[in-house]
Amino acid sequence: MERVISGIRPTGNLHLGNYFGAVKSFVKMQDEYDCMFFIADWHSLTTHPTPENIRNSVKTILSEYLACGIDPEKAPIYVQSDVKQVLELYLYLNMNAYLGELERVTSFKEKVRKQPDNVNAGLLTYPCLMAADILMHKADKVPVGKDQEQNMEMARLFARRFNRIYNVEYFKEPASFYFADKAVKVPGLDGTGKMGKSEGNCLYLCDDEKTVTKKIMRAVTDQGPTQLNQEKPEVIQNLFTLCELLSGKEAADYYNDQYNNMTIRYGDMKKQMAADANTLLAPIRERILAYSSDDALLDRIMRQGAEAASARAEKTIEEVREIIGFRKI
Ligand code: TYM
Repeated sequence: MERVISGIRPTGNLHLGNYFGAVKSFVKMQDEYDCMFFIADWHSLTTHPTPENIRNSVKTILSEYLACGIDPEKAPIYVQSDVKQVLELYLYLNMNAYLGELERVTSFKEKVRKQPDNVNAGLLTYPCLMAADILMHKADKVPVGKDQEQNMEMARLFARRFNRIYNVEYFKEPASFYFADKAVKVPGLDGTGKMGKSEGNCLYLCDDEKTVTKKIMRAVTDQGPTQLNQEKPEVIQNLFTLCELLSGKEAADYYNDQYNNMTIRYGDMKKQMAADANTLLAPIRERILAYSSDDALLDRIMRQGAEAASARAEKTIEEVREIIGFRKI
């Protein structure tokens, strides 16, 4: 059976970008593939969270995953830092990764620009840690949003390079998986760029009904089309992308026709989007509350996930050590 791995950094709550970019595909895939899901807490250290931040965020994200429908009986959920073999593979991959190519990664360049005071080595080698997460499980498919495409390319590059250096056919090249057959970039509610925690433009899965409605009704738009069939500016294109995700293609086409014949009222479109968002989120919200108050259940899920992932990781590391020429321990 093909293997699937997916992960998320525990920095705040899950938003619609995470949901449509990765979690939704994963929930579907758990019935057909050999899936594992993990919480990338080592990755979150690049921003220096406090111990309390980490403990709370891991619990929050785990509750939100479960609330979205990830079933730990089908897809073990583990915390990255519980599987120490990942660090060993990370070290090996670091030895085969070159400064020039790591510096060229767009998300690294963005961080250098946005946070020049904290350009740590972990940021630079972020793609190596992500590749270790994926290659450790010999994953065939990785559900991700468009923003992770370059990291996925790096993971494939590191797999090929390892095989070439040691003259083996050991690591598979993992493919990105998109539920709608093409990479999804969920736009932010401010009309520009992608929805992201650091952008402050998110609709969170745990937002209450009123907040959801308020955020969508306030999503940035323009004065409306001034010509028949005119091309949409970015803010409006983004609203339509969100509309299709929340309300479906038929609804988006309906408003698109109205846009083209200049009868559109963004308020009506947003009202429908808000209603559909609340229909999607109401049961998720309820389940988040139930899971997040059940510490014993969350602990058990993390423990079982760690066991399943460590067993697989140990096997990979034993094989990798042998390929590299290290003694068996
Ligand atoms: P992270 O935590 O930023 O996001 C988790 C997942 O959500 C997707 N996503 C989006 N998709 C579409 N539109 C958006 N606006 C949007 N915002 C977030 C991301 O593409 C991602 O799939 N590096 C990863 C975490 C990671 C990982 C891995 C993922 C570490 N190791 C191994 C997969 C496999 C990250 O920072 O995702």
